[in-house]
Amino acid sequence: MGKKKKDNRIEQMKEQHENATVMSRYDYVMNSLICKLNLIDAELKTELKRPVIQKITSRIKSIESICKKLEKKEKELIYDNAVSELNDIVGVRAICFFGDDIYRVADSIRGQKDIRVIKEKDYVSRPKKSGYQSIHLIVEVPVSYYEKVENIRAEIQIRSFAMDYWAELDYQMCYKKSAGEVETIRKEISSYSDVMAEMDRKMIELRKRIEKETIKAGGRKS
Ligand code: GTP
Ligand code: MG
Repeated sequence: MGKKKKDNRIEQMKEQHENATVMSRYDYVMNSLICKLNLIDAELKTELKRPVIQKITSRIKSIESICKKLEKKEKELIYDNAVSELNDIVGVRAICFFGDDIYRVADSIRGQKDIRVIKEKDYVSRPKKSGYQSIHLIVEVPVSYYEKVENIRAEIQIRSFAMDYWAELDYQMCYKKSAGEVETIRKEISSYSDVMAEMDRKMIELRKRIEKETIKAGGRKS
């Protein structure tokens, strides 16, 4: 496709993407998921008597990233393809203090009646070759307006503080760069992913020891 034609296509897609009705639906989905995660955090906090989610971040994919991803998938640059092909136009990320809490949060999401989990990727039990670890849930959120209901997909990434630290630096230094460009860094950074996983394990162990001691101390007092 010629450059001018491609620019026109992107311009047209940008108009469709940034249309107020379309954007407000994505906003609705993104904010519903943030509210849901806050609710899950509050419930878990009450149950476990400690904070669980450290931070929630979110974004709506820019038209530039949408076009890049469609090109990578060798799909034509039309907005219908973005809607049908991409699961992560809306993305929400929950970062947990501890590595075991990510499964608690994922379980809670699976149990919600108003969100349907349609796909799961567990990059924690099986990290990506890069070293990347996280749980990804692709969900469908119903957006109703009068009698019309539209199901919109979103990607929820759940990871620990340590996994997030690794992923953020990997993103800055390696991710989406060509293999040759970062070959040596990539080898090194993927080994640090194991270091972060080990750190997660140690912190969980430590927390469990503290919890046991607290229960014992509580028992002595009464
Ligand atoms: P993308 O085209 O990158 O969105 O990948 P995908 O649609 O094939 O799905 P995948 O589950 O592999 O990755 C989705 C998202 O996970 C990415 O957009 C990143 O946010 C994150 N991710 C996946 N792999 C890596 C990685 O190696 N490093 C970092 N930093 N993030 C990653
Ligand atoms: Mg993505």
